[in-house]
Amino acid sequence: MTESGREAPLALQARGLVKRYGSVTAINGADFDLRRGEVLAVIGDNGAGKSSLIKALAGAVVPDSGEIRMNGEAVSFRNTGDARAHGIETVYQDLAVIPGLDIASNLYLGREVRRKGFAGSVLRILDKSAMREEAARHLTELGIGIPSVTQAVETLSGGQRQGVAVSRAAAFGRGVIIMDEPTAALGVRESGQVIELIKSIRDRGIPVVLISHDMPHVFEVSDRIHIHRLGRRAAVVDPKQRTMSEVVALMTGADRPTEIEAAGGV
Ligand SMILES: Nc1ncnc2c1ncn2[C@@H]1O[C@H](COP(=O)(O)OP(=O)(O)OP(=O)(O)O)[C@@H](O)[C@H]1O
Ligand SMILES: [Mg+2]
Repeated sequence: MTESGREAPLALQARGLVKRYGSVTAINGADFDLRRGEVLAVIGDNGAGKSSLIKALAGAVVPDSGEIRMNGEAVSFRNTGDARAHGIETVYQDLAVIPGLDIASNLYLGREVRRKGFAGSVLRILDKSAMREEAARHLTELGIGIPSVTQAVETLSGGQRQGVAVSRAAAFGRGVIIMDEPTAALGVRESGQVIELIKSIRDRGIPVVLISHDMPHVFEVSDRIHIHRLGRRAAVVDPKQRTMSEVVALMTGADRPTEIEAAGGV
């Protein structure tokens, strides 16, 4: 079997995840499988629990029960820092960029480069020039057209802002990159740029989880589609074997998946 075959090792896996908020069950026994080297789309109606699921995978939400494995090993993320330490980078639906800060500072949020002091001690002063150089390098690598990394994020267009959030994840993601609706607010050109970025991340061998309501994008970029419904995985389908309208019917419950699809086995 090749890496992309059915028995490829799983980069990230979850079994039976549950998360309740009072009487609301946001994650209701969800399973999840991400293979190495693939783009996995996650689709589902509003409120199906997609964001909750990926927050659990990214350490932003601690599940009440269930199991998460990375490269076959059980992991337990108490916070996003734990997940990052395992190489998982996430672009959240609400973006989590700080508008008043410049691009370089946004890129390095939570992991600022500090200047070395005497005897290698780390000073509390940020090494801004090193951060700016690095930031410019990452953005150029990813083909994002931004005039200067010292520009405040609030002065950027939606597409450029998205680019900063996506390139932050792309620059630091070593194991898995998760993007929750990264093109939702974007125009055609900017969305296309994010889709190209996702392809280039996959080409670098890093698997990507893409949550999206945009079926043409899902079909353009994904290797497999995870369909989420009522808090859990309803099916995994092959976009080469299913049409967009078939996939939408599975998503809304108008149609049923095959046994293999329901078992997540395509
Ligand atoms: N922190 C929270 N407190 C209470 N309820 C929550 C919380 N987070 C999510 N929920 C609820 O869990 C359910 C799933 O929400 P979630 O945001 O995961 O859905 P989604 O599939 O990402 O939807 P969308 O497509 O609109 O982004 C919803 O009913 C939501 O109201
Ligand atoms: Mg969501």
